[in-house]
Amino acid sequence: MINPEQFRFFSDMVRQTSGISLQKGKEYLLESRLNELARVLGLRSIDELYRKTKFQPTPKLKEQIVEAMTTNETYFFRDQHPFDSLKNHVIPELMELRKKERRMKFWSAACSTGQEPYSIAMILKEHFQALSSWKVEIIASDISQQAIDKGRNGRFTQVEVNRGLPIQLLIKYFKQNGAFWMVNDTLKGLIKFRKVNLMGPFIGVSGMDVIMCRYVLIYFDQKTKKDILVKLVKALNPGGYLFLGATETPVGLPPTMKRKVFGRSTCWQKTTR
Ligand SMILES: C[S@@+](CC[C@H](N)C(=O)[O-])C[C@H]1O[C@@H](n2cnc3c(N)ncnc32)[C@H](O)[C@@H]1O
Repeated sequence: MINPEQFRFFSDMVRQTSGISLQKGKEYLLESRLNELARVLGLRSIDELYRKTKFQPTPKLKEQIVEAMTTNETYFFRDQHPFDSLKNHVIPELMELRKKERRMKFWSAACSTGQEPYSIAMILKEHFQALSSWKVEIIASDISQQAIDKGRNGRFTQVEVNRGLPIQLLIKYFKQNGAFWMVNDTLKGLIKFRKVNLMGPFIGVSGMDVIMCRYVLIYFDQKTKKDILVKLVKALNPGGYLFLGATETPVGLPPTMKRKVFGRSTCWQKTTR
């Protein structure tokens, strides 16, 4: 059993590094995830992991503890409606707005294992041939190096491709390799995977036209959420759009962000600089 001091120690470390807030009552979650990590590291128990982290901490170990506490649940075209509004409203409007620069930049800002940025890439390839002569970039970032590596690899299991991915897109953009499905180079070429911690400075992620930051702020406390929303808005170009998860309310969003409803999806558009 994890004791109160260990819970306080690990939950403080996870919150300070990643923003993930583990309230009292989440002892079972911390315990089960860290028991598994202790096993992987060849340690006998959480006690041993605690002593090692407290008295011989290394950046790698700290990273492994934070990674163990992330929830990487994701699937292709998650919630469907935001992708419909990208296709039917947001991208056509941005094409008009950016027709002089001929550039468009997307950011999947907690991309987990890549299903979200690959879904954006498929929308672009399927419906916006005209953009093939534009400079289009999708930045896909996460705090979890393991998740990013998997996304960059573009290798998905049958169970993963069964979740949300229409069969015709699977056949068109993936190649079967034994028990796995590999994303083709056309989609991969659109996406740059990199590690970005939403708690830190957003280096190299600015001038975005669309930011998807979905199902991550739910793990943070109100103040952290608000601070991150302000930084996300700064990273958007005027006219750019922010998408959050369907159940997420953006408390503290600056007034320059105007709520837009397209069909069954809500997003926010930045009106001025
Ligand atoms: C539930 S997944 C959501 C994935 C995807 N956006 C979706 O909606 O399907 C949440 C992701 O947020 C990431 N995450 C948690 N804290 C983070 C932080 N401080 N900075 C960046 N990513 C973070 C986790 O590693 C995890 O992959």
